[in-house]
Amino acid sequence: MEFGLDLIREFEFTEKHFSKVKDDLYKHAGIVIADHKKGMAYNRLVRRLRALELLSFDQYFAYIVSNPAEFEQFINALTTNLSAFFREKHHFSFIKSKILPVFRERGQQQIRVWSAGCSNGEEAYSIAMTLVDGMININQLDVRILATDIDSSVLSTAGLGIYDIDRLEGMYGQSVQKYFLKGVGTKTGKVQIRSELKQLVDFKYLNLMTAWPMQGQFDFIFCRNVMIYFNRDTQKKLIENFSRYLKADGYLFVGHSEALGYDQEMFTLIGETIYQKKEIL
Ligand SMILES: C[S@@+](CC[C@H](N)C(=O)[O-])C[C@H]1O[C@@H](n2cnc3c(N)ncnc32)[C@H](O)[C@@H]1O
Repeated sequence: MEFGLDLIREFEFTEKHFSKVKDDLYKHAGIVIADHKKGMAYNRLVRRLRALELLSFDQYFAYIVSNPAEFEQFINALTTNLSAFFREKHHFSFIKSKILPVFRERGQQQIRVWSAGCSNGEEAYSIAMTLVDGMININQLDVRILATDIDSSVLSTAGLGIYDIDRLEGMYGQSVQKYFLKGVGTKTGKVQIRSELKQLVDFKYLNLMTAWPMQGQFDFIFCRNVMIYFNRDTQKKLIENFSRYLKADGYLFVGHSEALGYDQEMFTLIGETIYQKKEIL
């Protein structure tokens, strides 16, 4: 419940407006906005009204109808993009200590990884750094990391690979030097991912609620801190689809609060929020 906040809002944002926002977002992106997040939805969208010099939410909804490209901005405004390099470190330690030794031992030549809901790219680049560190012969291998998101603005940032230097807090100095270029002059305070790392990652637009065009299967999939925005039915369907897109024994990494639950039979929990695809008997 909200307490009289409508009184101090610049634009009227009624329950009807909020319902429309929730419905449109859910239908397109599967994202569920909780009823108590009305203030958050308002704050995120009001920037669009100001940028377009509109006077009301009704005008904004009408604007989207006559300018369908604005719907992309509507979606971008409502997604939550919080991410970090080496977020949930234990996932990267697991790749290094359990997955890569197996790849090395069996002389695996091709590695395919998917970061689904990649936000600004920190997750995909952290995976790339882990692979480069763990596979000394990476240049002779066929390695591709697919990184997808529904938000077109985060994909642009991810593709550029330019970040504020303070985003690297907690990373070892050695890795920072190895994988980032430090900005100078007008770029002071910024870092850019080195091209050797960038070339391992393909950033692409993909709405997880639509058909997935990828061919072939992945060795492991990261879908972390994305499913929390979906309802149980959507999560179940996604988990089934992820299983189809994983190689035999492939791994699914989810966020710290996204346990797959007991009503699924495709995966075995083998580490903290790390699942392995079950063998099909
Ligand atoms: C909180 S971020 C998580 C980023 C990263 N995986 C991590 O854990 O640090 C969630 C991302 O999921 C994306 N997302 C939400 N709904 C989506 C959908 N239907 N299809 C694809 N991406 C979606 C958002 O745009 C956002 O960038």
